[in-house]
Amino acid sequence: MSKANTNMNKDIKIYIAGHRGMVGSAIWRNLESKGYTNLIGRASAELDLRNQQAVNDFYQAEKPEVVIDAAAKVGGILANNDYPYQFLMENMQIQNNLIDAAHQNNVKKFIFLGSSCIYPRLAPQPLKEEYLLTAALEPTNEWYAIAKIAGVKACEAIRKQYNKDFVSLMPTNLYGPHDNFDLKSSHVLPAMLRKFHEAKCNNNTPIELWGSGTPMREFLHVDDLADAVVFAFENQLQENLYNIGTGRDLTIKELAALIQGIVGHTGEIIWDSSKPDGTPRKLMDVSKMMDAGWKAKIGLEQGIKETYKWFLENVNTVKQVKM
Ligand SMILES: NC(=O)c1ccc[n+]([C@@H]2O[C@H](COP(=O)([O-])OP(=O)(O)OC[C@H]3O[C@@H](n4cnc5c(N)ncnc54)[C@H](OP(=O)(O)O)[C@@H]3O)[C@@H](O)[C@H]2O)c1
Repeated sequence: MSKANTNMNKDIKIYIAGHRGMVGSAIWRNLESKGYTNLIGRASAELDLRNQQAVNDFYQAEKPEVVIDAAAKVGGILANNDYPYQFLMENMQIQNNLIDAAHQNNVKKFIFLGSSCIYPRLAPQPLKEEYLLTAALEPTNEWYAIAKIAGVKACEAIRKQYNKDFVSLMPTNLYGPHDNFDLKSSHVLPAMLRKFHEAKCNNNTPIELWGSGTPMREFLHVDDLADAVVFAFENQLQENLYNIGTGRDLTIKELAALIQGIVGHTGEIIWDSSKPDGTPRKLMDVSKMMDAGWKAKIGLEQGIKETYKWFLENVNTVKQVKM
């Protein structure tokens, strides 16, 4: 069990790096709903986290007591494949600057967010935290994964050497409001939602999906992740690395059928098996986090319905990432 921090002060100063992103904005909403009043965030245009001096100046001026790192360069297979250097280097710059400034400025608690792609491509399933660095990574996103592994290890080293409360949370695939729906750089679930929606609006034309449809994936609503992050902030977790997921997966074909039904598309689905599938299966073992006292609450069908509703309300302004 984790050690509950019973006297959590609601005006503790919390910096959420990446607060305008899908994850950061969900964490902000969750903290606000729990009555935290002293939240700070900066857009990348105001504070470029790749710039070490700017990050150090920001910490010295603002003196955050807690830092949640939800800032990163993120993207799907295509983007990772086309921009390996940016995915490796920019992520390392962002996290190194945030972590080291937190260490130098005596930040009390640091939460680092990574992703399930840190685990080996062919690791036994479900993925346990202890499988980290036991075999080769999935080549399509190894650039991103290596940066994230370095972040996990930096937090672990600070924890070990200085006994500080730096912890890493590894979420499975996320979806929800403020996701990236740009077809060139988005993840599988938002990409499918958009494709099915556009095909439905276009007289139910057939849609083409990548790969064979057989890989198995797990999906977590971003509000559930935000809940886990706030749990990790309010409780002192005993170890350095925790998986965050639902512990349940489904095939990409099953996901497509679910989304097709929710959107109401009645056309054909064509699977382009000449395109890569990625890792055959990726399911998180979430027992460590469950033992600590947290579990996911939002079911996949309910979560996708809510996300589709959000997409429809924001269809003209959804994120279009430019690389
Ligand atoms: N999405 C997923 O499925 C998923 C799954 C597992 C883990 N995660 C993890 O969750 C974290 C956040 O992901 P997300 O999906 O929320 O991404 P996102 O929506 O793209 O948001 C990323 C945020 O990072 C900020 N950022 C990027 N580069 C920056 C820079 N150079 N300087 C300052 N800020 C910068 C952006 O700020 P601006 O908006 O101001 O430009 C943006 O708000 C990442 O660590 C990711 O690995 C995501």
